Amino acid sequence: MQLTILGATGSIGTSTIDVMLRHPEQFQAYALVAHRNADLMLELAEKVQPQVVVMTDETAYQSLKGRLPAHTRLEYGMDAAEAVSAADEVDMVMAAMVGSAGLPATLAAVRAGKRVGLANKECLVTAGRIFMQAAKESGAEVVPVDSEHAAVHQALVGHDRGSVTRIILTASGGPFRNRDPESLKNITVAEAVAHPNWSMGAKISIDSATMMNKALELIEAKWLFDAKADELSAIIHPQSIVHAMVEYRDGSVLAQLAMPDMRSPIVYAMQAEPRLESGIPWLELAQAQPLEFQAIDEKRFPAMALVKDVLAGEDSLAIALNAANEVANQAFQDGKIGFMDIVDTVAKVLDKTSNQHVATLEEVWHLDAQTRRTTEDIIIT
Ligand SMILES: NC(=O)c1ccc[n+]([C@@H]2O[C@H](COP(=O)([O-])OP(=O)(O)OC[C@H]3O[C@@H](n4cnc5c(N)ncnc54)[C@H](OP(=O)(O)O)[C@@H]3O)[C@@H](O)[C@H]2O)c1
Repeated sequence: MQLTILGATGSIGTSTIDVMLRHPEQFQAYALVAHRNADLMLELAEKVQPQVVVMTDETAYQSLKGRLPAHTRLEYGMDAAEAVSAADEVDMVMAAMVGSAGLPATLAAVRAGKRVGLANKECLVTAGRIFMQAAKESGAEVVPVDSEHAAVHQALVGHDRGSVTRIILTASGGPFRNRDPESLKNITVAEAVAHPNWSMGAKISIDSATMMNKALELIEAKWLFDAKADELSAIIHPQSIVHAMVEYRDGSVLAQLAMPDMRSPIVYAMQAEPRLESGIPWLELAQAQPLEFQAIDEKRFPAMALVKDVLAGEDSLAIALNAANEVANQAFQDGKIGFMDIVDTVAKVLDKTSNQHVATLEEVWHLDAQTRRTTEDIIIT
């Protein structure tokens, strides 16, 4: 199987390469795509010997000229990223760029009918309708890489979708699960990025701390599993061993358990059956901490209250929530706003967003850009 990895230098990208290198007969790299990290790209290209490397940052592209393995072609820009996602040689695309920057190349893969491992949740949050419609038309198989959605996918296989009563995603609660909401005002970026169970990129780590990540995941689940707002819920599970549960009409609940390591959902997305070795540690339940569950306190995590309206509303609300959160998350990282201001800013933006159906990518971009401007204005004032 020939792979294109979008976001090859990131946390998911490098874990995908780790899995690939464990199974060289099954998986080979066609293209690696990244933005700025030229040094890591060089290292990865030497390891997996791809046919193409694409950098979307010009300085990084220039700095790699003449340094890649002899048979590896170097290309620049988002158009090249789209081309290597849709190329005939490619069987699967791992969509692991961060943010809505990943949308065009991932959609190109879906339109070309590829198997798509979807880590980039922003794709479905902002353009779920367009994505799922494109997959239906091209026959592309979209397989979730988020651990919760991969768990739901596994708990649904072989069962009647009409018998499902609830899809329950688990949330670790992040680093501030037990903190007094008042004390969260002065959280630093380093504290917010230090996730207790998962090693991830900065943006998603901060989203986990605000619980905005779970809000985005619920929207993602709506599209992936064609679920209604009242079928979707989340619960805190600090150990991150149970990744999600599916409840059926007869009261049965099917859960998927594994040690918290993204190589598990990654390998499942690459080849569901027969199962392949992923390199993650075995789960020894007798030695594990007790598995705990608790309801999510919406005062501590107001993102969970916000998402209820978004799930029940039209597409515009999800697009606005995502764009406002990206801007506010970055503003927090840049020291412009405090930790609690992130969700507060998103709430203010949602108040200004009209509830409307969005059917084309042009409308998505328009609303996305408009929301970013509104968010910047709110942050400045
Ligand atoms: N990490 C996890 O455990 C996890 C779990 C579930 C879902 N996800 C989702 O997976 C996606 C990736 O997460 P991550 O944690 O792997 O992020 P990350 O470590 O921050 O890596 C992001 C990757 O995207 C690339 N990138 C950023 N902007 C780009 C642009 N404009 N054009 C091309 N490439 C660009 C980066 O390239 P450079 O580094 O070269 O600049 C890097 O390779 C996100 O959507 C996240 O929500 C992650």
